[in-house]
This record gives sequence, C-alpha cells and structure tokens, in this order.
Amino acid sequence: MEIKTIGVLTSGGDAPGMNAAIRAIVRYGLSCGFRMVGVERGYHGLLRGEFKELTAASVSDLIQRGGTILQTARSKAFATPEGIEQASKLAKEYGLDALIVIGGDGSFRGAHKLSETGINTIGIPGTIDNDISCTEYTIGYDTALNTAMEAVDKIRDTATSHQRCSLIEVMGRNAGYIAVDVALATGAEMVLIPERDKHCPKVELVNRIVEDIRQSQKVGKKHHIVIIAEGVGGSQELAQMIEECTEVETRATVLGHIQRGGSPTIRDRVYAAKMGKMAVDLLKEGKTNRVVVVQNGKLTDVDITEGLEMKKNVSEFDYELVGSLSRNIQNC
Ligand code: F6P
Repeated sequence: MEIKTIGVLTSGGDAPGMNAAIRAIVRYGLSCGFRMVGVERGYHGLLRGEFKELTAASVSDLIQRGGTILQTARSKAFATPEGIEQASKLAKEYGLDALIVIGGDGSFRGAHKLSETGINTIGIPGTIDNDISCTEYTIGYDTALNTAMEAVDKIRDTATSHQRCSLIEVMGRNAGYIAVDVALATGAEMVLIPERDKHCPKVELVNRIVEDIRQSQKVGKKHHIVIIAEGVGGSQELAQMIEECTEVETRATVLGHIQRGGSPTIRDRVYAAKMGKMAVDLLKEGKTNRVVVVQNGKLTDVDITEGLEMKKNVSEFDYELVGSLSRNIQNC
C-alpha cells in the first residue's frame, strides 16, 4: 500500500523529549513528501477523531519543551475490539495510512492491534521509566534521571546538616531503573526496587535500613540516603518506623511528577531526532508493526509482537554496586 499520510500520537505517561520526537517525525516526514497529521490526546483522541494537520511551523520552538504538544491520555475504551474498530474507521476516513505511536508497552499493544486493521504502525519508545524490554533506552529516561539526581543532591545537603535519614521516593511503579541509576549517581546508601523489595514485609525493610544506619554511624557518616522506587511504596510509614527504632530523625520525600516534566537533556533530544527519522524511514520501506529500539548501543527495529514478549531486568551488578560503594570500609 502506498503511504501518503502519516499520523503521529503520544500515549501513556508523557516524557521529556516527546516533543523533540514529534518535531523530527513531522519535519522529516514533510521533507519526504508525506502529509503529516497529529492525533491529539493519544488513543482517546483517535477514538474521537481529534486530528490536526501539522506543518513545519506547527513544530517550531518545540525541541526544548517538556510534555507533549499533542497531549496524551490512557484510554481504556480503545483497548476493546469495538474501540480498535472505531479508531481504525475514523483514522481511515481522515486519510491516515500510517501511524507513529510514541509511548510505552501499552501504547505498542494498541499499535499492534491497529496494524491488524490495515494501518501501518511504528512505535517509538517514550517513557521516563526505561521499562520497555525490547530496548535499552526510552526517550525521557535521561531527563528524569537528571531531575531526580538534582533533587536528591539538594535533599542530601539538608540531611547532612541535620544528620538525618532521608527516604526519597522516585517514579517507577513496576521497575527500578530510575531508582538504581539515581542511587548510583547520588551516592545513596541503599536502594529499594519493586522487582526485589515490593513483597518484602515492612519490618524486614526497616531492619535492613536500621542495620545500615548503624554501620554508617560507626564510620561517622552524617546522613543516610535511601532511594525507594514508587512500586515499593510506603515511604512515609517506613520513615516513621525507622525514626522509632533508631532515634535518627527520618524524613520521606516523594519526588513524584516533577520527574516527568522539564526541558529534555541532550541525550533525549538526540535519540528523539534519530528515532523519529527512523520511524518515518521504516514506513517508507513499507514496514508495519515495528518498534524502533536501541540494542547493543545501536538503533535498530524489532517486530512489536516479538518486542512485547522480550524480557529485561535491572542489572544485578548495578543494584549491588549501590550498597558496596556506600560502605566506607577499608577491606573488601
Ligand atoms: O510514565 C511512567 C510513570 O511516570 C510511572 O513511573 C508512574 O508510576 C506512572 O507513570 C504515574 O502515572 P500517572 O501520571 O498516571 O499517575
């Protein structure tokens, strides 16, 4: 099928760099002679026919902006057979032959369903969580890490002044990638992630942290920083329990959605540019149901269905490194 019109949408949680990706897709798509159309509010908007024509000017002054000009949503109605049928019908009526979807696994499942209805779809990984198994990198991850790192550095200043224990909750409902990298980057004493610690009884977590605080005190440390991924949860409760056990003043800070906003870092902008171009190239080659990914440090593409079945895990090495680097002990 000859493609004349390409739609683009952002779906799921927004991520810094999505705008830079939209810009790249639109500008490169136009230069290849395609008509470019934005779908507003993700699949939710697709179901309602929320389309707008995109020109080179529509994406100017965008590369440095966080969020997504197309807006985003999580749509339950779209994920039904009726929803897919309705969305596909509206897209075809508007002349969309292809759709580039920037989002996470859930968004790619939708793209796969749409490809079965005859719309060529390509996915671009965009989520701050970096939790898409088929790719080593997702747009937005680096910016979120830097935002969280700067926040933890600030909390560390005050924790040191007051000789406190600080529990800092970072995003990641199901994945600990942000938590582990932020812990490594800030020299945190400990990290807790859903993959390992979600089902651990609170008392056990408290015992581990308390034991660690005692070790830190022995070597004269003036603060104790614990990074907790959102999926582990309960940071306020943990803080209270730790304070009761140790008499070390303990505070919990939830960084929350601050990690999702802000101007994208250079890494996110560069990936956005390259992945955007590659997505359009895949459509030019007549491909569908593919996702642009980073594997072994290189950009490539995989079948969406196969990609959704792949597995990746937080590196054991990185997780262990957090603890071993924080121990001020002379001998290994
Ligand atoms: O986009 C990923 C993410 O930020 C997760 O880390 C977090 O659990 C979730 O989205 C929060 O979603 P919402 O903004 O819908 O509360």
